[in-house]
Amino acid sequence: MALTRFPGFIDIHVHLRDPGQTHKEDFRTGTRAALAGGFTFLCDMPNNTTPTFTPEALQEKLRLAKEKAVCDIGFHYGTDGTNLSTFTAAWSNPHVFGLKIYCNQTTGGYQIADPAVIDACIAAWDSHKPILVHAEGEMLALCIERAKKYGRRLHVCHVSRASEVAMIRKAKESGMSVSAGVTPHHLFLDTGVMKPGLSGIEDKKVLLDALIDGTIDLVESDHAPHTREEKDRSTPSYGVPGLETTVGLLLKAAKEHGWKTVRIVDWLYTQPKEFFQIPDQPDTFVELDPDAPYIVGANGYQTKSGWSPFDGWELYGQVRHVIYRGREVMKEGVLTI
Ligand code: DOR
Ligand code: ZN
Repeated sequence: MALTRFPGFIDIHVHLRDPGQTHKEDFRTGTRAALAGGFTFLCDMPNNTTPTFTPEALQEKLRLAKEKAVCDIGFHYGTDGTNLSTFTAAWSNPHVFGLKIYCNQTTGGYQIADPAVIDACIAAWDSHKPILVHAEGEMLALCIERAKKYGRRLHVCHVSRASEVAMIRKAKESGMSVSAGVTPHHLFLDTGVMKPGLSGIEDKKVLLDALIDGTIDLVESDHAPHTREEKDRSTPSYGVPGLETTVGLLLKAAKEHGWKTVRIVDWLYTQPKEFFQIPDQPDTFVELDPDAPYIVGANGYQTKSGWSPFDGWELYGQVRHVIYRGREVMKEGVLTI
């Protein structure tokens, strides 16, 4: 087996559900899933049952993560439009990497639909740390326009439509500081309930091309652990677990499309590190064989949700070793932490 060494990957978009819904995931199980998937730095989203909209909620997450997390983790602050006076404290916190605004419906019900409130949030976030938006269609057009107006850095989460790629391309051409991410499920999955909804074949092709040409800068898992039972309901929870399959899916696509693995390092390390100013992680790397096939789920899952929409797929490059801050936390494919 020819192992290749990579930097510890960075996922700037995960939902670890701690506190509030630890029957789905918690900081320990979520960060173990991260290590199993080759990630050593995560950014956790604010849409918990008690959302990360206050300094107190942020402190509570920091306390819990310190107690339970087995890799590095940062946080995105959130807003419902009524907590603007807490923004300075949030962006001054070194553990905060951005502000998330939900402009469309998704898990948690924290959508801000009023353009005037979105405007006020973007105006108030007077920081070089990015504003991340869940913004589809005309909401994306609005966010791009307002981010431009106020000179804010914008990150467009989980791009899913060709029309949105076109807007992002235009914004980049105009010189705006905008980055964009795509999820593995929007690239590779055909069935399942998520927000945004899955892309059609034409959209998928445009998303893949946009990733290749750099219009889309990075890959984010949007790891959204829900139990199987919650997914099997007549009104399923939105989203899918993704931390343990993102790298393998990209390595499989690399084989199929003839991409060099260095591109994967761009999407999962170099670009997220630069856009979100993720600090260095000394003595941290992962090792895997990009040519070695494996079957998803054959050795179970680390995520507490315990399943994957890619269960049974043949992917490439299962992670074999992880050195995290000088410590061997995975050895021969087995977590030691
Ligand atoms: O499918 C999704 N699930 N999309 C999101 O934006 C949120 C996520 C979740 O928290 O479950
Ligand atoms: Zn998300």
